[in-house]
Amino acid sequence: MKIGVPKEIKNGETRVSMSPALCRRCTRLGAEVLLERGAGRSAGFTDAEYEAAGASLVKTPKQVWGEADMILKVKEPLEAEFSRMQRNQTLFTYLHLAAAPELAKALLKKRILGIAYETVEAADGSLPLLKPMSQIAGRLSIQIGAYFLQSQNGGSGVLLGGIPGTMPGRVTIIGAGNSGAHACRMAVGMGAQVTILDLDTRKLELIDEEYRGQVVTLVANPANVEQAVAQADLLVGAVLIPGARAPMVVSRHMVSTMRPGSVIVDIAIDQGGCVETIRPTSHHEPVYTEHGVVHYAVPNMPALVGHTSTMGLTQATEPFVVLLAEKGVQAALEAHRGLARGINTRHGEITNSAVARALGYKG
Ligand SMILES: NC(=O)c1ccc[n+]([C@@H]2O[C@H](COP(=O)([O-])OP(=O)(O)OC[C@H]3O[C@@H](n4cnc5c(N)ncnc54)[C@H](O)[C@@H]3O)[C@@H](O)[C@H]2O)c1
Repeated sequence: MKIGVPKEIKNGETRVSMSPALCRRCTRLGAEVLLERGAGRSAGFTDAEYEAAGASLVKTPKQVWGEADMILKVKEPLEAEFSRMQRNQTLFTYLHLAAAPELAKALLKKRILGIAYETVEAADGSLPLLKPMSQIAGRLSIQIGAYFLQSQNGGSGVLLGGIPGTMPGRVTIIGAGNSGAHACRMAVGMGAQVTILDLDTRKLELIDEEYRGQVVTLVANPANVEQAVAQADLLVGAVLIPGARAPMVVSRHMVSTMRPGSVIVDIAIDQGGCVETIRPTSHHEPVYTEHGVVHYAVPNMPALVGHTSTMGLTQATEPFVVLLAEKGVQAALEAHRGLARGINTRHGEITNSAVARALGYKG
């Protein structure tokens, strides 16, 4: 099998879909790895390391897309990449199609076998390829929030940890899954006063057990959300309904009750965001202000720490990439039910029912 690794082109993206270590495993299995020159540079890997791991380096993305049986990426293809996709090619990457109707159209037109990292499942139904990036985004959300709370960055001038004799900053986290739990860990570590909400009380019980009263856990009903949002210096959106558009949990009115200079970091923006006033931003222009509140909604936050993110991502994708390289795409999908759950598009149709519903297609 020929595995193509193009350089990522999304704004500010620094990750690469294959580390030299994963490359070596694939080439030892007999796969050919076609890697665009410089694809690993921003993640801290040189072309020489990939060459030593057996990759064939090519100059242009056109060559990678044109010759590979399977394209291994990090982020969803952007418009400039639509025309590079080959009919019936396999694409293994984050797709987040519920928030990307134009990409969905392009994948269907080219009859791409689109396997989305974010819907690949482990045996227990968890999402092993979303998890490491959610953990990173969760951890980052607090340091990003702390930065934009600084007076010179448009924030209210609140130090999350405070000092003895002053009130600490108040952090409200909506969603206590992977990203929310890791945001919680960092916020507690900084000494903030943390409230975390979820609809799933088992998630809240885990947080309660871990922090033993140091964190307030609340069921995410409208009254609790309203109160916790109004109190927040930093609000983190960390909800997910797998495959679907993110539920709108925080209304415009709730945002308008926040103190001026407060900050919202909506991690769930890649699925459309869970705050009514949110719209995607980029690493180039990460924030805007509405109702006096600073909004941050970068869909590829892990790119801020390209090396750690690449290691986290490729270690998680490794068993699946190895299976695909070893058995070939069809046999790998037949052998691993959880990998097959990652299929979002095939033979010109959307096969994931949550994605189909979100986009108004028949599932
Ligand atoms: N912006 C980025 O760079 C970035 C990076 C990684 C992940 N993400 C995104 O972050 C989001 C969260 O991912 P995750 O891995 O933490 O998901 P997760 O499944 O681990 O956790 C999501 C939590 O949201 C809860 N939830 C669902 N609906 C809710 C509601 N209405 N109110 C309150 N809680 C609700 C669920 O019960 C669950 O506990 C996803 O959209 C994911 O794609 C974004």
